[in-house]
Amino acid sequence: MKIRIIGDDILRQVASEVDEFDDKLVRLGEEMIDIMHDSDGIGLAAPQVGISRRFLVIDISPLEEEAEPMVFVNPVIIESMGECTLEEGCLSVPEVHEDVTRPEEILLKYYTPTGEAKTEKYSGWMSRVLQHEIDHLNGILFVDYLSPIKKKLIASRFSLT
Ligand code: CO
Repeated sequence: MKIRIIGDDILRQVASEVDEFDDKLVRLGEEMIDIMHDSDGIGLAAPQVGISRRFLVIDISPLEEEAEPMVFVNPVIIESMGECTLEEGCLSVPEVHEDVTRPEEILLKYYTPTGEAKTEKYSGWMSRVLQHEIDHLNGILFVDYLSPIKKKLIASRFSLT
């Protein structure tokens, strides 16, 4: 698995739901966590490694010491509250870091790789990374939120048409 870079079509597709919870899915989670760690990322969505499925991994331990790697399957934001601005980056948009404003808190429904349904409230960095990664499942990149001028700069930098 190789990390796809902006300009790759798969990053713009709406990913389909995961419908089989098996060993393969558990293994995919482990593999994606390894790739994320090797790339010094704190989140990675399946489309970023060429798999158009609603599946993502997060490990914010570089930002919050007590955090552990987590896997989210078919995540859905049921409610969002507040607003905050934080600097984001993305393994699929190398070397670009920009402020993005998003809801501060989210109520999330998701499944574990073994098919257990969960509902959890997230705030802080966990909420932020989840929203960024869920965007990937919908073909959205964080640079889509930037001003037209910044978008133009990024388009020329990555030779997008
Ligand atoms: Co990203």
